[in-house]
Formats: sequence, C-alpha cells, structure tokens
Amino acid sequence: MITLRNKCFTSLVFRRTKSNIKNYSIITNRNFSCLLGIETSCDDTGCAIISDSGEVLGETLQSQNLMHLRNGGIIPDVAQDLHRKYIEPTVDKTLQAANISMSDISAIAVTLQPGLPLSLAIGMKYAKHLARKFNKPIIPIHHMEAHALVVRKEYDVSFPFLTLLISGGHCLLAVAQDVNKFLLLGESMDSAPGEVFDKIARRMKLRNVPEYSQMCGGQAIEMAASKATNPHMFKLPLPLAEYKDCNFSFNGLKTSVLYQLFKKEKVHNVDADKLIPEVNDLCAATLMAISRHLIHRTQRAIEFCSKNDLIPDKKKQLVVSGGVACNNYIFKSLTMLCNELDYAIFRPTPKLCTDNGVMIAWNGLEKWWRNIDIVTDLKTLDIKAQSPLGESLVDKVIEARIPTKLLKIKVNL
Ligand code: KG4
Ligand code: ZN
Repeated sequence: MITLRNKCFTSLVFRRTKSNIKNYSIITNRNFSCLLGIETSCDDTGCAIISDSGEVLGETLQSQNLMHLRNGGIIPDVAQDLHRKYIEPTVDKTLQAANISMSDISAIAVTLQPGLPLSLAIGMKYAKHLARKFNKPIIPIHHMEAHALVVRKEYDVSFPFLTLLISGGHCLLAVAQDVNKFLLLGESMDSAPGEVFDKIARRMKLRNVPEYSQMCGGQAIEMAASKATNPHMFKLPLPLAEYKDCNFSFNGLKTSVLYQLFKKEKVHNVDADKLIPEVNDLCAATLMAISRHLIHRTQRAIEFCSKNDLIPDKKKQLVVSGGVACNNYIFKSLTMLCNELDYAIFRPTPKLCTDNGVMIAWNGLEKWWRNIDIVTDLKTLDIKAQSPLGESLVDKVIEARIPTKLLKIKVNL
C-alpha cells in the first residue's frame, strides 16, 4: 500500500550528532540548517536546497532538452557550455527562492559519478568553488543512487527494497540495502530504454508533429501510442528471452522497430519530413515490447530476491525510478506484476523521476544524517564517467538460471 511519508519522519532515522561528526574543523559549533544539491551529470543543470526535515526550500531546473532536440541528440561540448553558462544563475536563483544565503548552508551535495565527464566537471568545479569560498564540506553523490533513493523523500520506503532504474543513460535492477549499499542484480548490456525511445522517436520524426515538438522521445512515444488503433499490427521480438538472468538488451529491439519503420516508409513512399501513417501503432508496439522486457527481468529479480532472502516477506517493495519511470503504461504494467507477486510498488513524482537537483540534495541529506561521505579535503574529490552501482551479483544471477514462469500482463494503452 502506498502511504504518504509522515512529516515527522526525521525522528525515525539516524540523526547527525556532534559526537559523530567527522572532520570537526569545518563544522564545529554549527547546527544543521540546510543542504545544497547540484546536478550536472548529463543535460540538466539542477539545484535544490533542502532543510533538515527534508523540506525543499528552493529548486531550479535548467533543462537543455530543447537544444538537444534541435541538435538531434546530446553533444557533450554543447551540454558543457550550457552547464557553464547556467550553473551560477541556477544556484543563485535557488538560494533566492529559499530566501537564504550560502552561510546558511551546512554542506554541498554534488553528483560526481557516473555521467558525461564534461558535464560532471562543471558541477564539481562549481561545488568546490563554493565549498572553498564559504568553508563548507562536500558530499559526493552517485547519480544512480540518488535516483533510487529520492522516493524515500515522499514515501515511507524502508531498506531493503528492490529498485528498477530506467532512464536515458541507465537500466538496472538492484537491491538497495542502505543509503550507500546496493547489490546489482542485472543491467543493460547495450543501450538504456530512454535512449532507445529518444532514438526511435527522432527517426520516426515525431518532433515534426507540433504536439510532440517539445517533448522528449519517451514522452512523445507514450502519447502517440495512446492513439494507436491497431496496437498489435507490428510484431517485435522479446529481447534475451532465452537468458534466465536479469540483464537487459534494447539494441535488437531498436533495430527491429527501425526496420519496420523503413519498410513502411518505402511502401508509402514517405517524404523526408513526413511520418508513416501507422506511426501510432508502431509507437504502441515499441512501448509494449520495452515494457514486456522490463517486466520479465523484474519478475526474475523478484524471484532471485525471494530465493536468496534478499528482501524479507514483510518488505516486498519495488521502487521504479529514472526518467522512463514517468511512463504510465510501463508503471501500470509493473504495478500489475507487483499485484500478482504481492509487492508494493513506488515511484517518485514525475519531476523527481527525471534528473533534478532535489534528488541530489535528498541523497546528501540521507548521508548527512548517517555521517557518511562528508568530505572536507576537496583534493580527494574527482569525477568518474563510469561507475557501476554497488556490489555486483550479476554473475550469481546468471549462474542461478532462475526458471521463471513469466506472467502474462495485459494493460490497455
Ligand atoms: O533520468 P533522466 O532524466 O536522465 C538520465 O539520467 O538519463 O531520463 C531521461 C530519459 C529520456 O531518455 C526520456 O526519453 C525518458 O527519460 N522519459 C520517458 C518519459 N519521460 C521521460 N520515457 C518514457 N516515457 C516517458 N513518459
Ligand atoms: Zn538520471
């Protein structure tokens, strides 16, 4: 059952006390006031300020989506230039919205891994600049951990829980055992679902439809799919059907969709900037196929967790996070799976599913409460483009060859 988090929840968690403060030199005699979070791992410049009780006092998101839509994808140099241009105004705007100054901030949480190196570097440099200028510690944040944990800001989801992270850069299944303890069960061997949605939408030219022109690929495909009149017209393969593990693969599926698109373009002799007449049906087939793949791997992960006592019976919880979690069809399908398997399912509100500063500030706060990763020696901090999530159990899952009897989940578009 989904319950809204009790406002007094901070009393339930480990709180920071003077006796457990690490490097005392910087924070002596300072009570916690609030935390600043900075996100620049990809194409969004995000900033948020969060209070000790988890209340968001100010937040700003400078999205580069429209620019990248025009460019046909993210160009790292362009993303870096935009982060450089917007980082200072974004932080300033957030401080103004919260009506506080840097002296009121107790620590700066910033995404340092994984992500586009040029983008990460801007967030790190600016966080270090602020940390030096105002004598604040930095809390380094792992982008995927932040995605997985932000749900705890809104819902009472306690550890351990199973998490499915689906975004433009990642696709993985993991058990979150604690704020800094994750067990990786499976991940994508090629692309991420959001990336595949974006590429397919671009190739379908959905952007030429005014209604979709400002939407990211995933959102446009979801909208077009809802208008399908014959959603079963196109047959697409189920990726990794023979592999009894929790890994994902989307490239074969993408190729099949693009092949069907190409065939229809030829049949209809479609002009360069026009869409095929069956575009809604092809979007529906794409969405259903990606959803089916996600459901099957999640079902197997649930079974693996149960066989290995990773999730106790009393805590059967699945958290879906990342930009693709905004997709209602996918979430509904996962909800039906969870209903069948007696799992509770949670996802953050849509604006916290996609990249944002709040999830970084929240992750910083959870670390602050536990007194972990509060760094005052700034030289030790650096960015990391690649950074797997937690301890890998992927080989163990492969070896286990869980013979899942896959459930048939039917959801209306
Ligand atoms: O989490 P996010 O903001 O960035 C990464 O960390 O990658 O996710 C962005 C991705 C994009 O690929 C976008 O197409 C996808 O999330 N997305 C969606 C929807 N809204 C955003 N995918 C499917 N359905 C949606 N409604
Ligand atoms: Zn993300």
